[in-house]
Amino acid sequence: MKLKDLFISLSENRTLNSAAQKYGLKFGAQNVVAGTNIDEAIESIKELNKHGISCTIDNLGEFVFEKSEALAAKQQILAVIERINADQVDAHISLKPSQLGLDIDYDFCYENLKEIVSIAHQYGIFVNFDMENYTRLHTSFQLLESLNEHYDNVGTVIQAYFFESDQNIERYKNFRLRLVKGAYKEDPSVAFQTKKEIDQKFIEQIEYHLLHGKFTSIATHDHNVINHVKQFVKQHQISNEKFEFQMLYGFRKDMQLSLAKEGYNFCTYLPFGSDWYGYFMRRLAERPQNLTLVTKQVFNKKTNMLLGIGTAAFVLGRVTKRKS
Ligand code: FDA
Repeated sequence: MKLKDLFISLSENRTLNSAAQKYGLKFGAQNVVAGTNIDEAIESIKELNKHGISCTIDNLGEFVFEKSEALAAKQQILAVIERINADQVDAHISLKPSQLGLDIDYDFCYENLKEIVSIAHQYGIFVNFDMENYTRLHTSFQLLESLNEHYDNVGTVIQAYFFESDQNIERYKNFRLRLVKGAYKEDPSVAFQTKKEIDQKFIEQIEYHLLHGKFTSIATHDHNVINHVKQFVKQHQISNEKFEFQMLYGFRKDMQLSLAKEGYNFCTYLPFGSDWYGYFMRRLAERPQNLTLVTKQVFNKKTNMLLGIGTAAFVLGRVTKRKS
């Protein structure tokens, strides 16, 4: 079993998610999550803004199966929008449709999103729909299209690993798009599996959207991709106004600062909240080295225990599955 698969499985474990919330940001997650409440998040944003870096705020939330949970998430996101406006910080919203009830009922999710997007629209705040796994891909695009009939402050993410992403880039090229490699484990019937293929597609799609799209957010920590983009925009005389680089909060901080200093638009994806566990596990799945980077001072007994329970749960889950 690959380490990546293990961490992806851990990210999907609801019991561990609930357990982790009790500990707060204590297992190294505090290095990549900007606090558990909005005040802490706003302070981090102000600090980044001082360096010319804008932010996209993710009020973390996973495993939403009850309408009450989705409604609570909506209220929290609305509170973030109010704070962006009140504090006049340079920031916009990133959210996951599942957080607003996509897995419960499509229309209910649409209404929640509509309220968020309409209030953000009044303040001139952009709302980005993060892309989750393949099962939610088409409904997320459908939500985006329906909301775009009324509001222009919406955009989404294209994950390079899906076979259909070239068509989706073409179809949604007039949206502000964030381009990423893709973070979830997907079936070989729908997505490229090798790093070589994914990296190649990612570059092709970035080039295409830079040339033909509205505004491109290039979201990566990969210096090879970033250097390629720098050359490409120079060669094709693409203005800095047409794109930005994005990275996740806490990762490659020096590079984030130096790209902003070089005059590129830079946006940090800033997650906050007590529901950090799934997000944190996906970061470990992406790059197992993050385990040492992220937890170097705090990889203590509790962390080991949490991951230990997770591993046991994962293995047991597999054994049980095989038995039944
Ligand atoms: P990748 O992990 O492939 O690394 C390539 C190389 O870069 C490494 O071999 C190493 O040399 C270097 N490198 C990478 N990280 C480093 C580090 N921390 N320190 C030093 N060197 C490092 N996914 C998704 O499915 N849906 C979404 O909505 C989003 N949203 C999103 C927003 C933002 C702002 C980002 C940055 C990413 C996402 N993602 C995402 C995640 C994305 O799909 C992808 O899984 C991760 O960004 C990892 O891929 P990278 O392109 O960063 O490089």
